[in-house]
Amino acid sequence: MIELYLDTADAVAVKRFNQCLPLTGVTTNPSILAKSKQGLNETLKNMQDALGETPRFHAQVVSTTVEGMVAEARQINELPYDMVVKVPATEIGLAAIKLMKKEGITVLATAIYTVQQGFLAALCGADYLAPYVNRIDAMNGNGVEVVADIQLLLDQNQLPAKILAASFKNIQQAIEVMKLGIGAITLPVDVAAQMFAHPAVQPAVDQFSQDWEEAFADKLSFES
Ligand code: E4P
Repeated sequence: MIELYLDTADAVAVKRFNQCLPLTGVTTNPSILAKSKQGLNETLKNMQDALGETPRFHAQVVSTTVEGMVAEARQINELPYDMVVKVPATEIGLAAIKLMKKEGITVLATAIYTVQQGFLAALCGADYLAPYVNRIDAMNGNGVEVVADIQLLLDQNQLPAKILAASFKNIQQAIEVMKLGIGAITLPVDVAAQMFAHPAVQPAVDQFSQDWEEAFADKLSFES
C-alpha cells in the first residue's frame, strides 16, 4: 500500500488529518522548519504527540560536504524515532548516500528535478526518491512524466527504491502520480484538505438529511 505523508511542521494540522487519513508519518525540509521557527527536535516531539504509535519521519541534512552530511546523518539516525535522512541528489549528496548506505542508514534522495538524478540516486542505494512534481511543472517541465520515467527505470532494473513524490499544488498532480504505482507521496496540508473539497458532496449530504427529516423527523435509521 502507498505510504502517505504530510509535508509540514504544523502538528495541529497533522493531528486533524491523522483522524481521517492513514498517515505513515511526516516529511519536512529546512525551509519548512525555518518558516515554522521550530527546530527539528521540537517538531519531531510535537509530531510524535500528534500521531501516536510509531510514525516515520523524514528530515533533511543541512551540511554541504560529504563528510558533514554523513556525520549529520548518523546523528539524525540516532534520534529516538523512525528516521529517514533526506539528502539532496547532487554530486556531493550521492557520494554521501553511498557512504550512508554502507552504515545501514535509511535515506531519501531529495531535490530531484530530472530522471537521471532519481535513477542515479537509486543506483547509489537510496531507499526513497523525492521528485518535485509541481516545481518541475512550474519550470515548464512535466513532473508526472519525470515520475513515470523514474518508476520505469526502477522497475526495469529491479531497484528497491520507492518514489516518494513531493511538491504538489493540486490534487490532480497527486492523483496522476499515484496512478503510476509509486510507493509513497507527501502532500502539503492545503493539498490534503483539497482531497475532501468537491462542491457537490456537501449539498448531496444535506439533501439526504432534508429528505429524511421531512419523512421521519428526528428518528434514526434503525428506529424507522
Ligand atoms: C520534499 O522533499 C520537499 O521538501 C517538498 O515537498 C517541496 O515542496 P514545495 O515545492 O511545495 O516547496
